[in-house]
Amino acid sequence: MKILVGTGTCGISAGALSVMEALKKEVKERDLEIPVEETGCCGMCYREVLVEIRDNGRSRIYGEVTPKRVSRILEEDIMGHSPVEEWIVKDHKARDDDSFFARQKRIVLRNCGIINPSSIDEYIAHGGYEAIRKILENHWTPETIVEVVKKSGIRGRGGAGFPTWMKWKFAHEAPGSKKYFICNGDEGDPGAFMDRSVLEGDPHSVIEGMLVGAYTTGASEGYIYVRAEYPLAVKRLRKAIKDASAMGFLGKDILGSGFSFTLKLKEGAGAFVCGEETALIASIEGRRGMPRVRPPFPAQKGLWGHPTTINNVETLANIPWIILNGGDAFGVMGIDRSRGTKVFAMAGKIKRSGLIEVEMGITLRDIIYQVCGGIVNDRPLKALQLGGPSGGCVPTSLIDTPVDYERITQTGAIMGSGGVIVMDDTTCMVEVARFFISFTQNESCGKCVFCRIGTKRMLEILDRLVAGKGKEEDLRILEDLAQKVKSTSLCGLGQTAPNPVITTLQYFADEYRAHIEGRCPAHYCRALIRYEISSELCQGCGLCTRKCPTGAITGEKKKAHVISGELCVKCGICRSVCPFSAVTAI
Ligand code: SF4
Ligand code: SF4
Ligand code: FES
Repeated sequence: MKILVGTGTCGISAGALSVMEALKKEVKERDLEIPVEETGCCGMCYREVLVEIRDNGRSRIYGEVTPKRVSRILEEDIMGHSPVEEWIVKDHKARDDDSFFARQKRIVLRNCGIINPSSIDEYIAHGGYEAIRKILENHWTPETIVEVVKKSGIRGRGGAGFPTWMKWKFAHEAPGSKKYFICNGDEGDPGAFMDRSVLEGDPHSVIEGMLVGAYTTGASEGYIYVRAEYPLAVKRLRKAIKDASAMGFLGKDILGSGFSFTLKLKEGAGAFVCGEETALIASIEGRRGMPRVRPPFPAQKGLWGHPTTINNVETLANIPWIILNGGDAFGVMGIDRSRGTKVFAMAGKIKRSGLIEVEMGITLRDIIYQVCGGIVNDRPLKALQLGGPSGGCVPTSLIDTPVDYERITQTGAIMGSGGVIVMDDTTCMVEVARFFISFTQNESCGKCVFCRIGTKRMLEILDRLVAGKGKEEDLRILEDLAQKVKSTSLCGLGQTAPNPVITTLQYFADEYRAHIEGRCPAHYCRALIRYEISSELCQGCGLCTRKCPTGAITGEKKKAHVISGELCVKCGICRSVCPFSAVTAI
């Protein structure tokens, strides 16, 4: 028997470390000789802190565990052999959360929440490093591997969707005695945490994917580029690199095959633009992270002028599975030119926020309603932001779109790396566009004029619109600037930065017009709303009067209260505290 605590970043922020401490302490006090270990994210971030009890091949997961709940779990479940049913979120019986896992297919996340990410032995016990062993011991040629990867149909999971086999083939064929292989873990989209979870929960699978890639392309040195804001991922990766080197999976003459590959970790300083390949290379070289003109492509002239392959975390985590199970096994999953599975980080107004891995081809509707349980408070879905700031807003009318690179691109969004922000009817789409433009504006490296200044002008217009100072001509200028920023920028950041504006203008034009007329239909933009108390619903409890920071609410006890428009600063506190839903924004 053993007890596992989910200690991914989301588990830790929900209090997993204090739960773990309490478990260790109480296990010791009761003289129970049961190991308490860490594991990665199983994806149910909405139920953190998660504690799993594994015993004789059976498992039960407790959700929302606090240090206070620990004693009861130990007493009743472990000592009394009678699990605390009401706290279990997943076991062999039917549970409310079962549909969260029912449609998922776990390849990338196969070990996340299963093994202890800090233990190379556990990775090996779960088939780890078998893929590279298979290749080296059977003397596979790079051409054989390229063929397997081609059969799998896998395309880059970082966003662009470039076929992985082609990238590897180009790098393999590029002349040069020195080559590099890089893993891009510079996940910068607000709302995205797929790569972080994989690096935290199963770092060796990424290292093994890199080994396969390096062997195929002929690289002898590599880097994993991870943002410094991911300290846990960095810590677990450092340990994984050390352990893999000590066991002969990294370094010189790996498994006696003559193949050598050394791996270093580079912490990025958190610039969004460093997700772009040439900027990332500049950053590793110690220069300012700025993209450069391509060609030459990194496969020809990359890190320090040598042929370089760059793959994303999720792509690489798939590779060992593909080698062990065959390209066909991966290729049978999916739809059209989008094969295999895709990991999504679900955030926003969704009941089950967290990490999911689904087969390509599933519709956005099924992701939202079947896998993730629908919208918080069962409110109407308004839109999905796919692909973060480089992506676009997909309106409810298009939620039957299947997860497929081409079909998602047709909606104006992009598959991106897999961040999904779910928005309900209380979300203002003009504000959403403003938020993303302010992000990309801030992150622009400044090299291209339109990316640097065009996004600034776009932001000014959007600021004006949400402030209720927009003019009719603003929409035309916004559209024009969006197209110019898109077509004249050098790198992906600028080329995609206008996407949230373009898609919201396309699908929510009425909302933009309403702002020009002085209304925010979602009742979100402060400058365009006021709060009012319904005299029918108000019970005169006085709660809002006590909570209002400006003393704007007055009224006698048990009588309807009123808000002074002059004093109200529109913070919305009264609406959130009123037990009778008497306060509305109009
Ligand atoms: S919105 Fe804020 S400032 Fe205005 S009345 Fe309510 S609590 Fe007071
Ligand atoms: S909290 Fe609601 S019910 Fe109570 S006084 Fe304020 S508006 Fe009326
Ligand atoms: S890190 Fe625990 S479920 Fe996400």
